[in-house]
Amino acid sequence: MPNVKKIGVLTGGGDSPGINSALRAIVRRASAEGIEVVGFRDGWKGPIEGDAQPLTLADVSGILYMGGTILGTSRTNPFRKEKRDGEVVWEPTEKVDAIVENLEKLSIDALIAIGGDDTLGVAHRLAKYGVKAVGIPQTIDNDIGGTDYAIGFHSALATVTDALDKLHTTAHAHHRLLIVEVMGRDSGWIAVYGGLAGGADVILVPEGPPEGSFSVDDVEKVVKRRLAQGKRFSIVVVAEGARPRELGGRQVARGEVDAFGHVQLGGVGYWLADELKKRDLPLTPRVTVLAYLQRGGIATPFDRLLATRFGVKAVEFALEGRFDVLTGLWGTEIRAVPLGEALAQCPKPVDPELLRVAKVICPG
Ligand code: F6P
Repeated sequence: MPNVKKIGVLTGGGDSPGINSALRAIVRRASAEGIEVVGFRDGWKGPIEGDAQPLTLADVSGILYMGGTILGTSRTNPFRKEKRDGEVVWEPTEKVDAIVENLEKLSIDALIAIGGDDTLGVAHRLAKYGVKAVGIPQTIDNDIGGTDYAIGFHSALATVTDALDKLHTTAHAHHRLLIVEVMGRDSGWIAVYGGLAGGADVILVPEGPPEGSFSVDDVEKVVKRRLAQGKRFSIVVVAEGARPRELGGRQVARGEVDAFGHVQLGGVGYWLADELKKRDLPLTPRVTVLAYLQRGGIATPFDRLLATRFGVKAVEFALEGRFDVLTGLWGTEIRAVPLGEALAQCPKPVDPELLRVAKVICPG
């Protein structure tokens, strides 16, 4: 059993409600062993710059429900190098050395990284530089392998469901075709769970054949069938990563690329509305893009509990010397899942059984 006296923690990537619940649990569990906790600010930027602060019981008091992260976050990638000609290569930079040095300087015996596949991917790569890390899966996208759920997904689901409940009243009143664009990057978890919970009539996800995951005809068919049944409104939930067949399966994006090579998605909702306006439909399409609302707000009870359990287990895995793993929820049990194995499944596609249920409830 390693002699863990000091634990570092960081929160990276897209935020969500629930992160602070995990921080609170980490500090409480560590304190019970007399272990000191240091919080690095703004994701991997913190260890690179040695930007850290003590995290005490007082610092985490009253943050259980708070959204966001008291440490701040960023999309910092120490394995990204931009060459003089602008080409981006993925190789260790001097930032990797800085991380190793700062962890040594601060006498950090174990590091807990809370984040999505990008943040945990850095933790995994740092293992070969001697960094002893435990990952906690956190992303509203829920696209991380090795766990049934990631922190933040259920809170985003609550936001989407509430939005769809609200949108039903105006769609019904105005006899409208409302298109709701949700996040999720290359996975459709938010769209499927949110669409089913919120009673959408059409759910469009990124999962599907390369030539495209949906077509405008699919949507037109459902809307016309509902009209024939006297339903003079429809609600379409479309994942930002959904891929129209009319675009050859390409995603609608805004062009910016982040430090991990992800292009910023967004716009498929408006693209679909414009296409539907060209069809012979008596309903006016209107678009709502939920965007960052899905990342904000306060954590649901499920996320608070999941984050608390992950935080406790992450400290215990460190105490047991189990590193280069993440805390994975398997049913009701939490396991130490090798990061390499979990990351190999990213982006975790929506469970086919769930897609089947969505097809039954919202027949295309
Ligand atoms: O990964 C979480 C997420 O919200 C994705 O669903 C979305 O595509 C992305 O982050 C947006 O990235 P950013 O916060 O950098 O704009």
